Amino acid sequence: MGERFLHKPVLLQEVIHFLNPAPGETIIDATIGGAGHAAKIMQMIGAAGTLIGIDRDSESLNIARERLKSLEGTFKLVNRNFKDIKSIVQGLGTGKVDGILFDLGISSIQIEAGERGFSIKSAGPLDMRMDRGTQLTAGKLVNGLSEFELSGLIKDFGEERFHKRIAKGIVRAREEKEIRTTAQLAEIISASVPHKFRWQRIHPATRTFQALRIRVNGELEAIEEALKDAPELLKKGGRVCVISFHSLEDRIAKTTLREFKVSGVCRVLTKKPVMAEEKEVLENPRARSAKLRAAERIT
Ligand SMILES: C[S@@+](CC[C@H](N)C(=O)[O-])C[C@H]1O[C@@H](n2cnc3c(N)ncnc32)[C@H](O)[C@@H]1O
Repeated sequence: MGERFLHKPVLLQEVIHFLNPAPGETIIDATIGGAGHAAKIMQMIGAAGTLIGIDRDSESLNIARERLKSLEGTFKLVNRNFKDIKSIVQGLGTGKVDGILFDLGISSIQIEAGERGFSIKSAGPLDMRMDRGTQLTAGKLVNGLSEFELSGLIKDFGEERFHKRIAKGIVRAREEKEIRTTAQLAEIISASVPHKFRWQRIHPATRTFQALRIRVNGELEAIEEALKDAPELLKKGGRVCVISFHSLEDRIAKTTLREFKVSGVCRVLTKKPVMAEEKEVLENPRARSAKLRAAERIT
């Protein structure tokens, strides 16, 4: 496997600090991706430990398998949506676990594969499915939703202030011809926002791409469902860590962890979200927006 395909794990030291994996433990990496975090966790739980790795993207799981197979210890990989985490764990007959990690969103492996359609920078079809077995694609949304629906989607899931203009621009463009590629869409969005916003550090299509990806993959519902099941799967003293990359995800993590605290089942280990140090952000720009929250089961 070439370096190019490796995803650099974000907040690795911080995740290890809060998960605190010890020899012989069982840890779930609910978003195993390129197994960056998982490889370190496996080294720490050692030969007697078990890592359960979940990903809804089968291609990422193949990369994770390659990376983990030379390490000591047991790993079990599951190609499913983590929203079913409870039934996944029941199905494996693992019993309660010592730690659960959610590193949300998509990996560099997925972004860099232009044909997956996640990236504004590399041309590809308007796909954006993490699990290529599902039906809904970004193309279907972009070409099928009404202007009102598009505007609402871009506003709610992209928190994009120019949602109305962008929706109008998309509808106008698709009247001439179907919008098929990421490059076409990015260009339409750039041309829809006011001139002075076209050349900022962040591409003007970033928030719309985020909105489409969230909707295509039902991302927020999955996080909500899986997180609320987390304490039930943990042993007393077991920990859950969540890394989010935008405010919609972080809001869910913050609210859910607070609910665990209020119900007396967990204590929150992170008063404020933990963010990457400057050095990490310089080495890995993805880390810039990462926020880590963690909780520990106390009953
Ligand atoms: C940010 S990456 C994880 C990277 C990983 N921690 C590493 O160090 O290589 C997120 C991964 O989670 C997967 N994913 C996102 N949402 C998921 C869901 N609801 N169910 C299962 N996998 C999901 C994505 O396919 C992606 O591979």
